[in-house]
Amino acid sequence: MRLGMIGFGNIAQTLLKQLAETLEAPLELLAVVTLPELADDAEAHLAAEFAVLADELVVVTDADALLQRKPSLVVECAGHAAVVSHVPPVLRSGTDVVIVSIGALSDAALEVELRSAAAAGGARLVLPAGAVGGVDLLAALGAAGGLEVRYRGSKPPRAWSGTPAEETVDLVNLTEAATFFTGNAREAARDFPKNANVAATLALAGAGFEATRVELVADPAAPGNVHEYSVTSPLAKYTMRIENLPSAGNARTSVSTVYSVLREIRNRIGPVAI
Ligand SMILES: NC(=O)c1ccc[n+]([C@@H]2O[C@H](COP(=O)([O-])OP(=O)(O)OC[C@H]3O[C@@H](n4cnc5c(N)ncnc54)[C@H](O)[C@@H]3O)[C@@H](O)[C@H]2O)c1
Repeated sequence: MRLGMIGFGNIAQTLLKQLAETLEAPLELLAVVTLPELADDAEAHLAAEFAVLADELVVVTDADALLQRKPSLVVECAGHAAVVSHVPPVLRSGTDVVIVSIGALSDAALEVELRSAAAAGGARLVLPAGAVGGVDLLAALGAAGGLEVRYRGSKPPRAWSGTPAEETVDLVNLTEAATFFTGNAREAARDFPKNANVAATLALAGAGFEATRVELVADPAAPGNVHEYSVTSPLAKYTMRIENLPSAGNARTSVSTVYSVLREIRNRIGPVAI
């Protein structure tokens, strides 16, 4: 595989470590897209830590340079701005892109642009389940319509610091669970963009941004990042509760996100996809 990776932060580096440990043979290429000011550091880090992962390792700073390396799959692990600038040209070139910054698609104009870029290039935009699960069933039931989806995201208070939750909740001295946001998935993504990925994933798989109900909770007793949702459809009902451990490098990120992207890559390399 010729793998392109947009971003070289917490998720990208944890993912590359997992790939290095689990791949049976090295990748043909690993091309990492970084911000220009971080390129030298990334190059040194790649050479020191990931030399065994690919026959060729390169660092580039824009989509054109990435595409010159002819990646067969590109994974975005960088954020909303990187989705805007890098993902449309990659899709238009005919290359599939897996994006983890799914909350970016709450920007309706960007969602339209990505869909049309993928259609124009004959490429696929892949939205992995990320920190949540059961998305296969939700997306399958969605085809029959009539979905009701309610999502509740609970995290320890410190994981909400730096967000508007601080304006309504005393995060430092909180002693019991406090629900500080109730609304739909579009509003949740607008107000809490750094925590919008799960709500956006459920909305895109199921009932859409407006119809997906969201509650966000700061809970001192939360065992990690807890994602709960219930689905009612004319065909089936189910509930999910996932207790994710936060990633070592970022309390907002559930570490299972990394494994979800790892699955996408392994499914494209191995003889069976599951
Ligand atoms: N789908 C999910 O369930 C889920 C779960 C957790 C996190 N995420 C998303 O994954 C993304 C990455 O998370 P992280 O914890 O690795 O963050 P991070 O801050 O550790 O890493 C992001 C990296 O991207 C780089 N970057 C930023 N803008 C860039 C650009 N324009 N071009 C190239 N590189 C750029 C930064 O320099 C940084 O190295 C975030 O958008 C986060 O919201 C998704």
